Amino acid sequence: MVRHMRWLAVLSVLLIGAVIPIGSAGAAGTNKLEIFSWWTAGGEAEGLAGMFAAYKQRYPGVEIVNATVAGGAGTNAKAVLATRLTGGDPPDSFQVHAGLEIQTYDPEKFLEPLDSLYKSEGWDRALPKGVLTLLQYKGHYWAVPVNIHRANVLWYSKKVFSANNLTPPKTFAEFFKIADTLKAKGIVPFVLGDKEGWESGHAFEAVLIGTLGAQGYAGLWTGKTQWTDARVTQALNTYKRMISYTNTDHAALTWDGAGQYLINGKGAMQIMGDWQNGWFQSKNYSDYGWATPPGNAGVFDALSDSFALPKRAKDRDNALNWLRVAGSKAGQEAFNPKKGSICARTDCNQALFNAYLQSAAKDWQSNTLVPSVVHGAAAIESWAVKYKDIMALFVTSGDVAKTQASLQAACKDAGVCK
Ligand code: GAL
Repeated sequence: MVRHMRWLAVLSVLLIGAVIPIGSAGAAGTNKLEIFSWWTAGGEAEGLAGMFAAYKQRYPGVEIVNATVAGGAGTNAKAVLATRLTGGDPPDSFQVHAGLEIQTYDPEKFLEPLDSLYKSEGWDRALPKGVLTLLQYKGHYWAVPVNIHRANVLWYSKKVFSANNLTPPKTFAEFFKIADTLKAKGIVPFVLGDKEGWESGHAFEAVLIGTLGAQGYAGLWTGKTQWTDARVTQALNTYKRMISYTNTDHAALTWDGAGQYLINGKGAMQIMGDWQNGWFQSKNYSDYGWATPPGNAGVFDALSDSFALPKRAKDRDNALNWLRVAGSKAGQEAFNPKKGSICARTDCNQALFNAYLQSAAKDWQSNTLVPSVVHGAAAIESWAVKYKDIMALFVTSGDVAKTQASLQAACKDAGVCK
């Protein structure tokens, strides 16, 4: 309950309004279904295919159009989607992060509220309270969650660690000690692929958590912690030093491309969300270890992927059935073990999941939850985009003072900092 209250506090979400019925616009009886997402990488694509298979089992006559726009974290997909929504050409259902990200799609204008579907499918009982709270915006549910991802994971090559007699770092001091040892041996200590511009901000979330703690980090998104705080300066200095241990080709690599460094034993550690676990699986790579990044023990930096229903969806009935599958036990069990995420529902069969995911499911129950900003849970999209851009620039500029001032300004622009 306390964990969920924290999410609740962070989100300053509005109260649930009256449950209103699903609208009746849209054509019935079509045999198509267009699903829009950015899931094209290994693990992502397999997970989605798994959920398509679950859908086809229930609705075999429907042809699914897999409308993907490649780019991790929705780098390219979000703009395409916004254009389609405002241009009156929406897909039947689309991927959106649970949380304040939904605001960017102007839900009251472009989406159907899903309150009655939540009720008829019993999701208000099958989903944890914190997730339900995260999904409410302006008093309604606008999307159905399919998973929970963890953003703050330190993946490491077991081969490299055991060959050098190392154990995962618990503190930043240990991290730098390990980094020096590995650098001297010609191994990339801290693997990064920041080609798409969100990955630096992603890794920095973990550094902020490790430096400010769960409460201090969460407060950055509610105004309780100021970005001018001396601990933010410290986090930026730490991160700047971490970046000095990355691969020289980082700007040319995406998150999954960078993961190859671990697979071929040329790199040691990477901070990435647990879709990396799905990607490793898709590459038949199992010699990886996982740990919380330095200072992150007991904190779960969370996000959730969900699916929404645009107004005037061409295949509305099929889209409603898609949402039913997405929120179902069978749908989530088909999707998550391949995707590298745990179910949003509380009743999935744990035996279907690998050792990493079983451990993540336990942490999800026991850890302090904080929201990821890069993946839509912590802040409105315009602020999240500024944060990502500022932290992308930091990789090359290394300018701590300027970066901290920009982060504070972004918080002011969002109306959260004074
Ligand atoms: C996240 C998304 C994950 C995964 C990742 C990399 O934003 O929530 O499902 O796809 O991006 O693309």
